[in-house]
Amino acid sequence: MLYFVLKSLHIISDIVWVGGMLINAFVIAMVPPTIRTGVISALRSYDRRVTTTALGGAWLFGIILAVWYGWYTTGWFGFKFLIVVMLSALHGMQSAWLRRMEADPHLDPPAFVRLGMPIVLVSVVVVVLLAIVKPF
Ligand code: HEM
Repeated sequence: MLYFVLKSLHIISDIVWVGGMLINAFVIAMVPPTIRTGVISALRSYDRRVTTTALGGAWLFGIILAVWYGWYTTGWFGFKFLIVVMLSALHGMQSAWLRRMEADPHLDPPAFVRLGMPIVLVSVVVVVLLAIVKPF
């Protein structure tokens, strides 16, 4: 029972985290500089309160599942771990660039941050396949 509760809390956190990262990526890449400032100030508060908390929950419940149920020794988990570390780094960069772009809406972030939408979408496909199929 505890296992299923932990897994549910993990997946709920994942969905909220990934949703928040997609909103960040959309605003960074697609909202034009003329209307950026207002949108970014609203988004930064959501990012701090909701998306960052969900990221923490995904890590907390994911690590508990990995350690308590022994998944940390498996290949799929190692691969998934690398991808979620990259996603967490991307989230940190998104937050930093949203802060800078709020101050100067004409700034242009690096490609890794600008391409947030495809990076997050492809990562979600790979991470979910790894976690559910557990191919190795
Ligand atoms: C933040 C770091 C993360 C860690 C440490 C982590 C770790 C884990 C672990 C150990 C499991 C248990 C597997 C099982 O019991 O079957 C799991 C399940 C799962 N994770 Fe993650 N995960 C993380 C992030 C994510 C993200 C970002 C997503 C989705 C985008 C995700 C999607 C899933 C899914 C769908 C399952 C359920 C697999 C199943 O029911 O068979 N995880 N995760």
